[in-house]
Amino acid sequence: MKEGVPHIICLFGPQGSGKGTQAERLSAWLGIPHISPGNIFRKAMADETDLGKQVADIINSGHLVPDEVTNTLMRERIEQEDCLMGFVFDGYPRNTAQNDALHAMTQLTHALVIDIPEEESLHRIGERRVCSQCGMTYHLTFKPSKVTGVCDVCGSALTHRDDDKPDAIRKRLDIYHTSTEPLITSFEQRGIVHRINGMGSIDDVWKRVQEAIQKE
Ligand code: AP5
Repeated sequence: MKEGVPHIICLFGPQGSGKGTQAERLSAWLGIPHISPGNIFRKAMADETDLGKQVADIINSGHLVPDEVTNTLMRERIEQEDCLMGFVFDGYPRNTAQNDALHAMTQLTHALVIDIPEEESLHRIGERRVCSQCGMTYHLTFKPSKVTGVCDVCGSALTHRDDDKPDAIRKRLDIYHTSTEPLITSFEQRGIVHRINGMGSIDDVWKRVQEAIQKE
């Protein structure tokens, strides 16, 4: 890894592929922020802010929050000082309008695509628990919290996401395949796409993610 060169990384992959899980590790490893619109929206919903009230029904039904809202949120976030040495996007961009907005803001250095079959997505999501305050992700079997139902990081209660119910998951997977996956082609033309096999343990996948970042 080159010292002093910003890493502007985006993680792509279907729901449950481990984008959030691996983004947390990348953020800690590289010392750059993990930026997840999903986490920001869920925290706003838990805190019942105006943003939270505006997006709650949209998120719980598995639809995308309007592009103007998400693009503004992302632009304001990456303008903050802690993003000077880069950041890890987890869940942005998700469609052409967001990709165009991203191009106007910055250039990605890495697009990591984590692939898993749909049965695995559904299996992992069924046992996922998240902290609605800090966004840390757990799995009842593969990554349990130390105290059942309590976040290891901030001590808040863990929840089962409303958008992890079957109808919302189907909608989210459909949006991924129709709107998000086609964006990867534009990054392939720039030679920055790294395809990661998302099967195996969290540690196995993490080794592949690190290898992709070190392959510069
Ligand atoms: P978001 O929160 O980003 O959800 P998502 O993209 O649907 O992705 P997931 O969180 O479901 O999956 P993940 O790949 O991060 O998997 P995870 O690491 O948790 O977005 C939610 C909503 O917010 C959207 O539907 C939309 O409404 C809104 N939104 C977000 N971004 C937006 C945007 N750009 N524009 C508009 N709206 C937006 O892992 C899953 C589980 O598996 C966990 O329990 C984990 O512990 C476990 N696990 C991970 N890796 C492994 C492994 N290797 N083996 C076993 N278990 C594993």
